Amino acid sequence: MDFFATAAKGTEPALRDELIHMHIGRVRADRGGVHFTGSLEGAYKACLYSRIALRVFLHLRTFEALDEDGLYDGIRSMDWDEHLSPSHTLAITAWCRDSALTHTNYVAQKAKDAIVDQQRDRHGKRSSVDRKDADVPIFVHLVKNQATIYLDLAGQSLHRRGYRRRSVDAPLKENLAAACIRLAGWDRKSPFCDPMCGSGTLAIEAWQWSRNIAPGLSRKRFAFERWPSFDSSARKYMSELREQARADEIEDGPEIFASDLDHKAVMASEINAVAARAKIILDKKSVLDLAPLSPPGFVISNPPYGQRLMTDREFYGKLGRKLRTLSNHKVALLLIKESMERDLGLRRDKFQIMFNGDIRFRLTMFTIKHGKNKVSSKASWHKNDRPSVDKKHHRAKKASPHKGSSPKGSSPKGSSPKGSSPKKSSHKRSPWDEVKRGGHKH
Ligand SMILES: C[S@@+](CC[C@H](N)C(=O)[O-])C[C@H]1O[C@@H](n2cnc3c(N)ncnc32)[C@H](O)[C@@H]1O
Repeated sequence: MDFFATAAKGTEPALRDELIHMHIGRVRADRGGVHFTGSLEGAYKACLYSRIALRVFLHLRTFEALDEDGLYDGIRSMDWDEHLSPSHTLAITAWCRDSALTHTNYVAQKAKDAIVDQQRDRHGKRSSVDRKDADVPIFVHLVKNQATIYLDLAGQSLHRRGYRRRSVDAPLKENLAAACIRLAGWDRKSPFCDPMCGSGTLAIEAWQWSRNIAPGLSRKRFAFERWPSFDSSARKYMSELREQARADEIEDGPEIFASDLDHKAVMASEINAVAARAKIILDKKSVLDLAPLSPPGFVISNPPYGQRLMTDREFYGKLGRKLRTLSNHKVALLLIKESMERDLGLRRDKFQIMFNGDIRFRLTMFTIKHGKNKVSSKASWHKNDRPSVDKKHHRAKKASPHKGSSPKGSSPKGSSPKGSSPKKSSHKRSPWDEVKRGGHKH
């Protein structure tokens, strides 16, 4: 069976590594996600364990759809009894580009008609539509007149872990935070600190990863648990998988610190950490008062890009001088502009471009060398470091069957400094992001 797990753009390599570690089948990173081939059980595992995936799709069929009849006939010719009965609810999300059919709403409508007409013919009754919480969420992807039909295993996007009770301006999505931590090469043993923690997402994700807490455990059930194919043996498998995941959790792990200048952010982090069962060591203080971790560890943070009290340049200059005092630490910062890196005055090891909704970030990584407060120019993070992933993205774009698409979602609420609004993607929208926002549903 063929699957496609979606991820925020730029985090595909991290998702690929994560899926490889799960031993769920053959994996191949692509633009916007990772293809994998394996069993349904492997896909169940991905839903339960992946920290980085947003959705997991099961590929059903690809066919040519030059017009509405082609689309209707193609969908109607599939055996929908395999996937849902009239007592199951459905929702259809559609995406189209470079095709004769141009309206996603219309495509979704036609797809729904084809399915429910088949049901009416066969059973005299049909499934009803539930846009918010369907038993069987279906995704229609139409590019260059090729329609691909998928089932969405998770239902609700996997980044919704259920612990975000309070938020702050410009929070990171949980899956993006998890990807940053993985891409930064944190070993899950060294102390971890986010000194500008906002609602605590990075610290909570670090805690859960270091304690081996499966992110999907907080979810009562996934959409696939309501499918007709989810029989008693699948139910048994899933219950054993959950049991095993609970048994694999570990008590001990490194200390995880988080702090913020803003009292409300510290409060939000505390509330979220309690909801996530995470014992984060929280403090209200400025990053400019940050002391070295003992033993030296990882500082991973998403600094503000809308400072009111200081100009960005001043702030980043001071931040760079502070970070230089953290001998033998690794630092990874999510920056929205390259100029911020210059203002820090630190020389990076490498960077990775990624997106939080519409906002383009550079996860920029530094090694603070021992002794002379110097930053390293050639520090190694891990074996297959690259100076930049831009070229890789270019290659991925060429190779992708969905080329030309890229994630675009809702923008964070954070304010931005004058004349330096966060960079938005200049790429076309991605179908995968459309799905995670609900898209056009019928
Ligand atoms: C972009 S937000 C971080 C969002 C966070 N990653 C999340 O997921 O919620 C930046 C945070 O930096 C904090 N901040 C700004 N200046 C600071 C300073 N000098 N010291 C510590 N925190 C600061 C802000 O209060 C804000 O919560």
